[in-house]
Amino acid sequence: MKYFKNIAVILFFASALASCNTKNKSVTNTDGDTNRKWWKEAVVYQIYPRSFKDSNGDGVGDLKGIISELDYIKSLGIDAIWLNPIYSSPNDDNGYDISDYRNIMKEFGTMDDFNSLLKGMHDRGIKLVMDLVVNHSSDEHAWFKQSRSSRTSPYRDYYHWWNADRGKPAYRYSLFDINHDAWKYDSLTDAYYLHYFSRKQPDLNWENPKLRNEVYDIMKFWLDKGIDGFRMDAFQFVAKDTTFPAFPAGFEKNFIKYYAMVPPIHDYLKEMNREVFSRYNAMSVAEGAGNSFEDAHNLVDEDRKELNMAYAFEGVDIAKPEGYSLLHFKEVFSRWDSAFADKGWLSIYLANHDQARLVSRFGNDSPEFRDVSSKMLSTFLMTMRGTPYYYNGDELGMTNIRFDKIEDYRDMPTLNEYQHQKDIGGDIKKFMENIKFSCRDNGRTPFQWDASGNAGFTTGNPWIKINSDYTTVNVASEEKDINSCLNYFRKIVKLRKENDALIYGKYIMLDKDNPDVYAYTRELNGKKFLVLLNFTSKTAKYNIGLDISQAKILIDNYISLLKDGQLQAYEAVVVEL
Ligand code: GLC
Ligand code: CA
Repeated sequence: MKYFKNIAVILFFASALASCNTKNKSVTNTDGDTNRKWWKEAVVYQIYPRSFKDSNGDGVGDLKGIISELDYIKSLGIDAIWLNPIYSSPNDDNGYDISDYRNIMKEFGTMDDFNSLLKGMHDRGIKLVMDLVVNHSSDEHAWFKQSRSSRTSPYRDYYHWWNADRGKPAYRYSLFDINHDAWKYDSLTDAYYLHYFSRKQPDLNWENPKLRNEVYDIMKFWLDKGIDGFRMDAFQFVAKDTTFPAFPAGFEKNFIKYYAMVPPIHDYLKEMNREVFSRYNAMSVAEGAGNSFEDAHNLVDEDRKELNMAYAFEGVDIAKPEGYSLLHFKEVFSRWDSAFADKGWLSIYLANHDQARLVSRFGNDSPEFRDVSSKMLSTFLMTMRGTPYYYNGDELGMTNIRFDKIEDYRDMPTLNEYQHQKDIGGDIKKFMENIKFSCRDNGRTPFQWDASGNAGFTTGNPWIKINSDYTTVNVASEEKDINSCLNYFRKIVKLRKENDALIYGKYIMLDKDNPDVYAYTRELNGKKFLVLLNFTSKTAKYNIGLDISQAKILIDNYISLLKDGQLQAYEAVVVEL
């Protein structure tokens, strides 16, 4: 299942590289970061527009749908929304194949709808971060149509072409292609074009200054409308060695090493910062943090004037169908925290639109433990250092749908890989089992608003099936239950927002070798919090060498059952010491 291993690695290069020059009041903070920024303090809520709320009964979520739920979104206590792409697109990859960067996808609405959405958000004090997808465009973008029309088109160099007279170019691995081949032959000009993703997502040529300026203009177009930042899709791949040397056989197993952070990517970022970000009070967030801490620091260290944050994939990749080791999980998050303790800033996430559901991957979605383990994971995400990115629906504890039939899947790379496996005589049964756990469609089923037909998502036929658990897992019923996942999420977000120590405070792991419990403190200017998380379905003991008998319990997913030295199944407790 090489592909899915790879996609797990790559697709989570969803990164938040926020470049922003906003309020710069300094906190007297001796424990780490001293520079306050709104994007460090923000909780970012990610909305997958296609699946959030349909306003016109065509079965597809849209901007008007989001507008109608802005009060709900506000009630979560979050600060910013990251919206997956809403630009014109033929939807080969649900909007990650853009045919017009300055227009709204027909299915999602109009520019007027967009303006109302932005206003509605700003009126409520919510910021908007848009996806910037510029490693590639759609093959239906006017640039590509021009580019492929002739070898001498002024747009030819907007993309990567290899004339067939030179023979076949050296193999490049495609993440989404049915044959994994990133070169597509085009007979029109007898040449190959490069596509790291699907054939309908040709890679843009960043070596071309004209292309780079087009991108900066597009960014300014949206920033001038008042948006607050960008999440930069697949950005670590934009630079390429355009001599296209051969890579060693089998390089695709470790393709990030060859594809990510190729020089002169930092020159491009510095130029983008100079041309765009330095002129706006906006944040930039890029997907992917390269191959090492050094790469990540080179992206985000403030004095370099490139980006603000990066998503690393190491944490999100830990979850496996056969389970995962909490010791590994703790080690990874602690290592990343310490690498950025003094300089740079991290993003914290465990799920997004490229992942299956949070509780199904990292928690336990059985009826008995879905609720508590969801709350435990939310507690983790809201108490770590770094900006939390939280995916819509996880606040309800939505679960994987686990389709049995390939016909139910919509995700293009999954369908392509299914065909590939058939073509090469692969193990289809195993493939079908794997995608029940890992396919990103699990995280894309419609948002569950209430127990009415189609979960209140649409009055029509939903573009993808709705999870049958919607009759109990939905906003309306969770609103009524004071102890629901939803209300717990609001509480834990509030707790973070009210306590700088949970944002900026120093992180120290306790009881390091405990395989069941994740325990850590967060401390700032004399305020100290202890977080205790049981990652198992059994009662678990911890040994932290601290007397917590007098400590004040701030939140507990078991209604304050905390007993010294012991946690219930998936119990999560935050206390002030
Ligand atoms: C990023 C997006 C993913 C998309 C891919 C190609 O990984 O998060 O959804 O398919 O880029 O644009
Ligand atoms: Ca619609």
